[in-house]
Amino acid sequence: MRAIVQDEYGPPHVLSLGEVPIPAPGAGDVLVRVRAAGVDYGVWHVMTGLPLIGRLGFGLRRPRSRVPGMDVAGVVESVGAGVTAFRPGDEVYGAATGAYAQFALARPGKLARKPANLSFAEAAAVPVSGVTALKAVGKVAAGEKVLVIGAGGGVGSFATQLAAAGGAHVTAVCSTAKDGLVRSLGAQAVIDYTREPLTGTYDLIIDIAGRRPPALLRGLLSERGRLVLVGGEGGGRWFGGLGRLPAARLGGLFARRRVETPISLTRTADLDALRDLIEAGAVRPAVGRTYPLAEAATAVGDLVARNAPGKLVITID
Ligand SMILES: NC(=O)c1ccc[n+]([C@@H]2O[C@H](COP(=O)([O-])OP(=O)(O)OC[C@H]3O[C@@H](n4cnc5c(N)ncnc54)[C@H](OP(=O)(O)O)[C@@H]3O)[C@@H](O)[C@H]2O)c1
Repeated sequence: MRAIVQDEYGPPHVLSLGEVPIPAPGAGDVLVRVRAAGVDYGVWHVMTGLPLIGRLGFGLRRPRSRVPGMDVAGVVESVGAGVTAFRPGDEVYGAATGAYAQFALARPGKLARKPANLSFAEAAAVPVSGVTALKAVGKVAAGEKVLVIGAGGGVGSFATQLAAAGGAHVTAVCSTAKDGLVRSLGAQAVIDYTREPLTGTYDLIIDIAGRRPPALLRGLLSERGRLVLVGGEGGGRWFGGLGRLPAARLGGLFARRRVETPISLTRTADLDALRDLIEAGAVRPAVGRTYPLAEAATAVGDLVARNAPGKLVITID
């Protein structure tokens, strides 16, 4: 089958189109015929092997999985022994291993039925970003004030919609070019971080980009406010954006305002919850651009260069 292969860590040119055998589903595996695969920072981390601490999980000298890609939407081709939740022909979305290929293996607990009102490309944009946003937003009450930092990106475009769908008043933080996008997603106010500082008081701050000091963000919280630190690139080679999390957690222990540092794992229950919201029309993935499989390296480069708003997706014939 055609697949993107990667034999070393490095910049996007380490990703090239190649031929590899179709993976055989073992017991408990689902073989998915991939129709589309999402592009997100997880792929960039595995491609570069950065931050270095991540190599304990991805592989010390080269990635454990030669084929990158996790977010997937496609059709079940076959299932291994013991899989009862899915059958060949089912349209699914979720997390797989080696999604930048014509076929990929997934575990049933990381898949769900694809939202009926989404194309495969739209569905592949949902899993990691949508689940992360779902966890970060949690339960919001009508009228609560929510600040989403990085609102025009993958996670932020879902967080903005989810908070707005919950009745919150959402202030989006983004660059000038993404003003229209974030307003279309439900933001009622916008702070252009390239021109103005963050101001205001919020019940929930979802911090997805910029690695601002947690103490600065805590200062923008209301009395019972909650700060959720989702991500932020840059930082040192060893710990990258993770570097500020231990201090933020410690600081949170002694503060009345809660600090959370969630790590999102794609699970069927969360994918089901997102599908319900998507099918009800409350949330829709904001796909900024699609790429053919052969242009996977360009797609990952565009993500990092922030060349397109919303989510980027690779489509496979
Ligand atoms: N905790 C978890 O489980 C989890 C899960 C998924 C992702 N993440 C992390 O979350 C981060 C974002 O992921 P993503 O997929 O949403 O990335 P993305 O699609 O690149 O979105 C990030 C957005 O932030 C904006 N931005 C950049 N610098 C900013 C700044 N200084 N202030 C405010 N906004 C800024 C960017 O565009 P503009 O500058 O043009 O506005 C971009 O739209 C990454 O670090 C990723 O590793 C964590």
